[in-house]
Amino acid sequence: PADPKGKGKQSPRATAMIVIGMAGSGKTTFMQRVNSYLHERNQPPYVLNLDPAVMHLPFDANIDIRDTVDYPEVMKQYNLGPNGGIMTALNLFTTKFDQVLSHVEKRANDVDYVLLDTPGQIEIFTWSASGSIITDALASALPTVVVYIIDTPRTTAPATFMSNMLYACSILYKTRLPFLVVFNKTDVQSHQFALEWMRDFEQFQDALLERRQTHGDEDGPAYQDSLMNSMSLVLDEFYKHLRAVGVSAMTGEGMDELFDAVQEARQEYEREY
Ligand code: GTP
Repeated sequence: PADPKGKGKQSPRATAMIVIGMAGSGKTTFMQRVNSYLHERNQPPYVLNLDPAVMHLPFDANIDIRDTVDYPEVMKQYNLGPNGGIMTALNLFTTKFDQVLSHVEKRANDVDYVLLDTPGQIEIFTWSASGSIITDALASALPTVVVYIIDTPRTTAPATFMSNMLYACSILYKTRLPFLVVFNKTDVQSHQFALEWMRDFEQFQDALLERRQTHGDEDGPAYQDSLMNSMSLVLDEFYKHLRAVGVSAMTGEGMDELFDAVQEARQEYEREY
């Protein structure tokens, strides 16, 4: 077993997966699928729900932010709208995260996976102090991997693909943790095109040109294409170190590959962190 920090300590058995995704990417369905997949393999995970606004969770959570923070009450008491309410609820929860972490640490050698579900509004977790505090605390306690869910059918246009990848890149640099991109909904749209664009930026540039020829100025002024061409070169470096898998949270396709990639990412954590 690895000794990542050279303190003579063994890494705990559990791998934490922080699941992040834009609204509509299928994060909830993905969490549900991962949960049932692990139960079927007799590896029930330890689950944390950090979304205070979720009405119905289609899986059991061991720790649920809704048990300690009353989101509608927070909105009322602080006179906040929906997003301010979620942010404040998360801040309040974070003040108690040391207690949460001690529960997680107690179970870290009994389970293989700790799953962390984040609020549906992605930036509330990725661009808040609370999100960073929780991520850093978790990653200092056990091997942690960031799992970024992408809505594959909605990312087939080159400009959308690039925006999504730049966002993924920004999360990688913010968390600095092993990172896994999950192309979801492969039952509707194969992720092969994305793997090809990531492997060879010239293929991405060809797709951009083709799109311009078929859609004309619909995608904005042509100079933006040259900006995207340059950015595709920058992203090429990001792609080289990136793990990407395709899954269908709906059908369960790709789950074995997903967990192989999570284990590889865990090894990266043990080597690098
Ligand atoms: P929250 O923001 O946390 O509510 O989750 P989400 O909106 O990211 O995802 P949700 O699981 O609610 O999925 C959004 C929509 O995508 C729903 O209509 C799902 O049924 C659908 N969906 C999710 N995963 C898949 C998939 O693998 N295949 C298909 N075809 N549809 C999916």
